[in-house]
Amino acid sequence: MTNKQLIREALKTKETAQAPFSNFKVGAVLVTTDNRIYHGCNIETSSFSLTICAERVAIFKAVSEGEKRFKSIFIASDSERFTPPCGACRQVLWELAGNIEVFLINRLGEFQKTFMHELLPQGFDRSFLINHNQD
Ligand code: THU
Repeated sequence: MTNKQLIREALKTKETAQAPFSNFKVGAVLVTTDNRIYHGCNIETSSFSLTICAERVAIFKAVSEGEKRFKSIFIASDSERFTPPCGACRQVLWELAGNIEVFLINRLGEFQKTFMHELLPQGFDRSFLINHNQD
Protein backbone atom coordinates (compact mmCIF):
# COMPACT_ATOMS: atom_id res chain seq x y z
CA MET A 1 0.00 0.00 0.00
CA THR A 2 1.17 3.54 -0.71
CA ASN A 3 1.36 6.17 2.01
CA LYS A 4 -1.73 7.79 0.50
CA GLN A 5 -3.65 4.51 0.78
CA LEU A 6 -2.43 3.99 4.34
CA ILE A 7 -3.64 7.48 5.26
CA ARG A 8 -7.07 6.62 3.89
CA GLU A 9 -6.95 3.29 5.73
CA ALA A 10 -6.22 5.04 9.05
CA LEU A 11 -9.11 7.46 8.50
CA LYS A 12 -11.40 4.49 7.76
CA THR A 13 -10.17 2.56 10.81
CA LYS A 14 -11.05 5.56 12.99
CA GLU A 15 -14.72 4.83 12.28
CA THR A 16 -14.49 1.51 14.18
CA ALA A 17 -13.59 3.37 17.40
CA GLN A 18 -15.76 2.80 20.45
CA ALA A 19 -15.54 6.26 22.03
CA PRO A 20 -18.98 7.10 23.47
CA PHE A 21 -17.52 9.03 26.42
CA SER A 22 -14.92 11.24 24.79
CA ASN A 23 -16.39 11.23 21.29
CA PHE A 24 -12.76 11.39 20.18
CA LYS A 25 -12.27 8.66 17.61
CA VAL A 26 -8.77 7.53 16.67
CA GLY A 27 -7.60 5.05 14.04
CA ALA A 28 -4.12 3.59 13.75
CA VAL A 29 -2.55 1.50 11.03
CA LEU A 30 0.75 -0.16 11.85
CA VAL A 31 2.98 -1.39 9.01
CA THR A 32 5.57 -4.16 9.41
CA THR A 33 8.86 -4.25 7.51
CA ASP A 34 7.24 -6.96 5.35
CA ASN A 35 4.38 -4.57 4.56
CA ARG A 36 1.75 -6.40 6.58
CA ILE A 37 -0.73 -4.07 8.24
CA TYR A 38 -2.49 -4.14 11.60
CA HIS A 39 -5.42 -1.90 12.47
CA GLY A 40 -6.30 -0.40 15.84
CA CYS A 41 -8.97 1.92 17.18
CA ASN A 42 -9.53 3.38 20.62
CA ILE A 43 -11.93 1.43 22.81
CA GLU A 44 -13.54 3.03 25.86
CA THR A 45 -15.54 1.38 28.62
CA SER A 46 -17.79 2.85 31.30
CA SER A 47 -14.96 2.18 33.76
CA PHE A 48 -13.08 5.05 32.13
CA SER A 49 -9.53 4.13 33.11
CA LEU A 50 -9.86 0.85 31.20
CA THR A 51 -9.80 2.74 27.93
CA ILE A 52 -7.16 1.72 25.44
CA CYS A 53 -5.75 3.88 22.66
CA ALA A 54 -5.78 3.00 18.98
CA GLU A 55 -1.99 2.76 18.80
CA ARG A 56 -1.70 0.18 21.56
CA VAL A 57 -4.52 -1.91 20.12
CA ALA A 58 -2.67 -2.01 16.79
CA ILE A 59 0.72 -2.93 18.22
CA PHE A 60 -0.61 -5.48 20.69
CA LYS A 61 -2.54 -7.16 17.88
CA ALA A 62 0.60 -7.28 15.75
CA VAL A 63 2.90 -8.54 18.51
CA SER A 64 0.37 -11.19 19.52
CA GLU A 65 0.45 -12.45 15.93
CA GLY A 66 4.23 -12.85 16.17
CA GLU A 67 5.31 -9.61 14.46
CA LYS A 68 8.64 -8.18 15.60
CA ARG A 69 9.80 -5.65 13.02
CA PHE A 70 7.93 -2.51 12.11
CA LYS A 71 8.31 0.33 9.65
CA SER A 72 5.64 2.92 10.30
CA ILE A 73 2.41 3.84 12.02
CA PHE A 74 -0.40 6.03 10.64
CA ILE A 75 -2.58 7.75 13.26
CA ALA A 76 -5.80 9.55 12.34
CA SER A 77 -8.33 11.49 14.39
CA ASP A 78 -11.28 13.80 13.70
CA SER A 79 -9.30 16.81 14.84
CA GLU A 80 -8.06 19.52 12.53
CA ARG A 81 -4.81 19.25 14.46
CA PHE A 82 -2.29 16.44 14.04
CA THR A 83 -2.97 14.22 17.06
CA PRO A 84 0.20 12.75 18.55
CA PRO A 85 0.28 9.48 20.53
CA CYS A 86 -0.16 9.82 24.30
CA GLY A 87 2.74 9.21 26.66
CA ALA A 88 1.78 5.61 27.40
CA CYS A 89 1.59 4.78 23.70
CA ARG A 90 4.94 6.45 23.04
CA GLN A 91 6.57 4.18 25.62
CA VAL A 92 4.93 1.03 24.22
CA LEU A 93 5.66 1.93 20.59
CA TRP A 94 9.28 2.77 21.41
CA GLU A 95 9.77 -0.51 23.27
CA LEU A 96 8.06 -2.77 20.78
CA ALA A 97 8.59 -1.03 17.45
CA GLY A 98 11.63 1.23 17.95
CA ASN A 99 12.33 4.31 15.89
CA ILE A 100 9.56 3.88 13.33
CA GLU A 101 8.09 6.58 11.09
CA VAL A 102 4.97 8.17 12.54
CA PHE A 103 2.39 9.81 10.30
CA LEU A 104 -0.02 12.09 12.17
CA ILE A 105 -3.18 12.61 10.11
CA ASN A 106 -5.87 15.23 10.60
CA ARG A 107 -9.50 14.95 9.60
CA LEU A 108 -8.80 16.55 6.24
CA GLY A 109 -6.34 13.77 5.41
CA GLU A 110 -3.36 16.10 5.70
CA PHE A 111 -0.36 14.62 7.49
CA GLN A 112 2.77 15.44 9.39
CA LYS A 113 5.60 12.90 9.43
CA THR A 114 7.85 12.39 12.43
CA PHE A 115 9.83 9.59 14.10
CA MET A 116 9.46 7.86 17.45
CA HIS A 117 12.78 9.24 18.68
CA GLU A 118 11.44 12.75 18.08
CA LEU A 119 8.30 11.97 20.09
CA LEU A 120 10.16 10.18 22.87
CA PRO A 121 13.70 11.53 23.23
CA GLN A 122 15.86 9.70 25.77
CA GLY A 123 13.31 6.91 26.02
CA PHE A 124 13.63 4.27 28.69
CA ASP A 125 13.84 0.74 27.35
CA ARG A 126 15.04 -2.75 28.17
CA SER A 127 18.70 -1.90 27.49
CA PHE A 128 18.73 -0.09 30.86
CA LEU A 129 17.72 -3.28 32.65
CA ILE A 130 20.78 -5.23 31.51
CA ASN A 131 23.70 -5.24 33.97
CA HIS A 132 22.23 -2.28 35.80
CA ASN A 133 23.79 -3.44 39.08
CA GLN A 134 27.25 -2.91 37.61
CA ASP A 135 26.68 0.78 36.71
N1 THU B 1 -6.60 8.34 22.17
C1 THU B 1 -6.04 7.48 21.27
O1 THU B 1 -6.62 6.44 20.94
N2 THU B 1 -4.83 7.80 20.76
C2 THU B 1 -4.19 8.99 20.94
O2 THU B 1 -3.14 9.20 20.35
C3 THU B 1 -4.74 9.97 21.88
C4 THU B 1 -5.94 9.54 22.65
C5 THU B 1 -7.95 8.05 22.67
C6 THU B 1 -8.07 7.61 24.09
C7 THU B 1 -9.49 8.03 24.43
O3 THU B 1 -10.38 7.00 24.00
C8 THU B 1 -9.73 9.25 23.56
O4 THU B 1 -8.74 9.21 22.55
C9 THU B 1 -9.64 10.56 24.32
O5 THU B 1 -8.49 10.63 25.07
